[in-house]
Amino acid sequence: MATPTHAAVVTTAPRNLLVVRQVPTITPINDEVLVRVEWTASTPLDLHQADGGLLVKHPQVLGVRVAGTVLETAEGAKRLKVGDKVFGFQWREQKEKGHQEKLAAPEWLFGKVSGTILGQRECLFTTLLSKWRSFMMQEAVTLPNNFVTAFHTISTDLGLPIPWPKPEGYVPPKASEAILIWGGASSVGQYALQVLKYYGYRNIIATASPSHHGYLKSLGAIRCFDYRDPNVVHDIGRDMGSLPLIIDCIGSKAGTLAPISQLTGSAAKVAIMLPVIVKASADEAAPEYSMEVESQAAWGPGVEARGVRTHFYLQNELFNEKLQSEIMPTLLAEGIVKPNRYELIEGSTLVERAQNALDKLRSGTVSGARLVWRVAEA
Ligand SMILES: NC(=O)c1ccc[n+]([C@@H]2O[C@H](COP(=O)([O-])OP(=O)(O)OC[C@H]3O[C@@H](n4cnc5c(N)ncnc54)[C@H](OP(=O)(O)O)[C@@H]3O)[C@@H](O)[C@H]2O)c1
Repeated sequence: MATPTHAAVVTTAPRNLLVVRQVPTITPINDEVLVRVEWTASTPLDLHQADGGLLVKHPQVLGVRVAGTVLETAEGAKRLKVGDKVFGFQWREQKEKGHQEKLAAPEWLFGKVSGTILGQRECLFTTLLSKWRSFMMQEAVTLPNNFVTAFHTISTDLGLPIPWPKPEGYVPPKASEAILIWGGASSVGQYALQVLKYYGYRNIIATASPSHHGYLKSLGAIRCFDYRDPNVVHDIGRDMGSLPLIIDCIGSKAGTLAPISQLTGSAAKVAIMLPVIVKASADEAAPEYSMEVESQAAWGPGVEARGVRTHFYLQNELFNEKLQSEIMPTLLAEGIVKPNRYELIEGSTLVERAQNALDKLRSGTVSGARLVWRVAEA
């Protein structure tokens, strides 16, 4: 019998147009499930990989976040069943990648989408009528990798305790210490703000375009600064003093590491999203990246600058077992974490939607929203 196949969006070489290829559909083994990928989101990592070949060899299936339906379960999968609606962050092998119609991955890399799952019109109607927390798969797919990044960065790179389950009345040891979220409107920034707020960190400030300041305050920032204002470093320093804890949600050598390095107190911890973007990808020029942070800015004495590598989050036993399967769906369902706003990327074919999303990322015009697109029809 011929091996079953499905369509996948594939890179062929750096900065080439994406193509669609038929790839083998994997039968799930051990604790894996086979999922029909209904929605995905394109993120800057896709651009870093497609244009800059970051940590990949072409040809490559892109995509690290999906929302879809379980089609098949292997014998060792005990929690999920056929027909479950799920969302998750998977990245380790081609069979797990998101920009294809079907993927196979262990069940603990998925959260279950609970409650009513709505279409666009119903969602608006329900939101107007009640506070019932229902949401669409398109919203759920904005969470996985950057929700995980927020937990991993706060816990592993900043060293702040974020216990699960959160004890009743929990107050963290550094509740009133100032924490700067540079790039608060990014997807990483929005989840970092919400997770810090949930755990009781009360002195969080953010940088973002002024149009996002109101929203970011609703997510947990007590003050916001415009990162394009030429006086931003002076103003933050004047109002907040030297900062002990910083998350650089962008990782741009000139755009974020340079200003942040002027704001750190001695013994400050700075967690920087890798890669450091030395030169951003553009239509006319290839990008340049660095996977090392210490030499990329003039850090003051005693400053601990750390490059964030979310791919290592599974080394934390609790996160390995519960971050995607339990913590992520619980905080979403309870309304503690709001999904990112999203922009639906249109296109008449799978590859057109994938290419349109990648082109939009390269244009550098994404602001406060995830680029979400349809993969397999439900
Ligand atoms: N290493 C890791 O483990 C890891 C994990 C997750 C993400 N990342 C990386 O982190 C970066 C962000 O990812 P993302 O998905 O959160 O991106 P995103 O949501 O696409 O980021 C878009 C936002 O970036 C903001 N921005 C751009 N330049 C800025 C600057 N100089 N200062 C402040 N804000 C700026 C814009 O803010 P305004 O709208 O306010 O202008 C925009 O809303 C990417 O490079 C990604 O690859 C790394």
